[in-house]
Amino acid sequence: MFGSKKNKPQIDQEQLEFIQNAQSRIKQKKRLYFHFVVFLLGALFLVIANTVLGIGKDTQFFGIDWFVFAILSWLFIFLIHLFNVFVTNRFMGKAWEQQQMEKLVTQQQVRIEKLKSELKKEAPHIAESEVYNEELKAKEKTSELTIIVAAGENDAIGKDNKLIWHLSDDLKRFKKLTSGHHIIMGRKTFESFPKPLPNRKHVVISRQPSYQAPEGVIVVNSLEKAIEIANNDPQPFIIGGGQIYELAMPLADKIEITRVHAEFEADTFFPKIDTSIWKEVDNVFHKKDSEHEHEFSFITYVRK
Ligand SMILES: NC(=O)c1ccc[n+]([C@@H]2O[C@H](COP(=O)([O-])OP(=O)(O)OC[C@H]3O[C@@H](n4cnc5c(N)ncnc54)[C@H](OP(=O)(O)O)[C@@H]3O)[C@@H](O)[C@H]2O)c1
Repeated sequence: MFGSKKNKPQIDQEQLEFIQNAQSRIKQKKRLYFHFVVFLLGALFLVIANTVLGIGKDTQFFGIDWFVFAILSWLFIFLIHLFNVFVTNRFMGKAWEQQQMEKLVTQQQVRIEKLKSELKKEAPHIAESEVYNEELKAKEKTSELTIIVAAGENDAIGKDNKLIWHLSDDLKRFKKLTSGHHIIMGRKTFESFPKPLPNRKHVVISRQPSYQAPEGVIVVNSLEKAIEIANNDPQPFIIGGGQIYELAMPLADKIEITRVHAEFEADTFFPKIDTSIWKEVDNVFHKKDSEHEHEFSFITYVRK
């Protein structure tokens, strides 16, 4: 931005490799030539040392004069050098490495393709397997089906299609937790309301094919269908009554129970909470007061 840019020559990677390869070959050949000259001078020196200066005149190895032996050994080393430069380095140099690498990559690709086609054949069996399906279900499961209930110590929840007590904090909690969500209920519980509750999607379960409900209330003929309808809700609630709680217990992920600390006469009951299946994770106690004629506790259970 502030100075003039220098124009760098643009060489691509392949050209650069060729140049580096050529430079290395030139260096190898230079070293060979230098070795040849040193060998000639060395050999000449050895001949002179023996014949003119008389060094080791009578020394022989295997019946050969030592200097001839030394020159032949050196010649042998030079020939190895020559062979390395013109044969080994030429045929096992960069180009040869590249060729070998390409060969290996091709072999690996063939193996990968073979594995892929074997996997395709196995795919239906994998899809049928229990482990795969359980994993898939766990991944797909994004909503937390929650039972919400108020029950006495003897699990009483209702009589004559009505609630047995009036606990204002419990109703407030019910409103707070369920607002904005699907509330799934049996036909009798639905009919116990004077009108649909605001800001909640009502899903009513009934066996009657032509059951008429007010506009906006969804009627289905099974709990499974009700859950399916609430599929996009992160926390659909099962709000009762006794028959629907019974059906929902094996499917629910969570129970929000208001345990009213007294025994009541009732005609509808909540199923027993099996603590080998359910784990208590929260428990908040409320005293009796002017607005609450009974002591009670908000208890949360999650499936173990
Ligand atoms: N304490 C609490 O937290 C709480 C909460 C909710 C309700 N309650 C109380 O519970 C009582 C009502 O409970 P409930 O057990 O009598 O009735 P419910 O569970 O509310 O509703 C029963 C109705 O649901 C439908 N149903 C049940 N099983 C079905 C199935 N497998 N397939 C299709 N439809 C099915 C039937 O409707 P059709 O007859 O139309 O076929 C059945 O008559 C009331 O006293 C209410 O006040 C208490």
